[in-house]
Amino acid sequence: MNQKTKGEKEYIGRVAVYPGSFDPLTYGHIDIVERALEIFDKVILAIAHATSDASKRSLFTVEERIEMARGVFEHLPNVIVDSFNGLLVDYVGKTNAKVILRGLRATSDFEYEFHMASMNRSLNIHLDTMFMMTNKDYFFVSSRSIKEVASLGGAVEGLVPNLIARRLKEKFKLPLTKEKQIGWEY
Ligand code: PNS
Repeated sequence: MNQKTKGEKEYIGRVAVYPGSFDPLTYGHIDIVERALEIFDKVILAIAHATSDASKRSLFTVEERIEMARGVFEHLPNVIVDSFNGLLVDYVGKTNAKVILRGLRATSDFEYEFHMASMNRSLNIHLDTMFMMTNKDYFFVSSRSIKEVASLGGAVEGLVPNLIARRLKEKFKLPLTKEKQIGWEY
């Protein structure tokens, strides 16, 4: 009998956990989730309370990131938005996922991702990390650059969903109607 203890979550079918800060979610992340749904029955978007990179301070609280992600994925019932604290492998171990999913934009991502995937595999040999290449349209998009552009009044529509663009403007106390173009048309 497969009995789960309190706090463990069992999902039916092939499940992948897509972890990250998602501060905020971009179209690059959304594209990965949509493509992963062609392979997996369920994708758990696992929003980290804290990241391994101590220099990263989040703009949005975990609660805000969860709320935004649930809004973005409300039309996709096979996407579960959750959050986790502590070790990723401990969180994944409480689901029946065997795969950690990550997006790769460029070779510059590789070292960090290789280190993380290797560490996670050494912590739990039953888990594998699967990488998906980011869609070429979003190669230059990162949550960090989105925050920088938005904080300086640049337009991020087309790179993040409208609901997130609006929340960025509210965060940076920018007018909701007026925005500066950043050099190209979407
Ligand atoms: O989107 P990010 O910020 O690159 O995501 C990084 C994240 C949250 C996936 C990573 O920092 C993480 O898994 N943190 C949890 C702590 C952990 O398990 N560390 C061991 C792996 S090195």
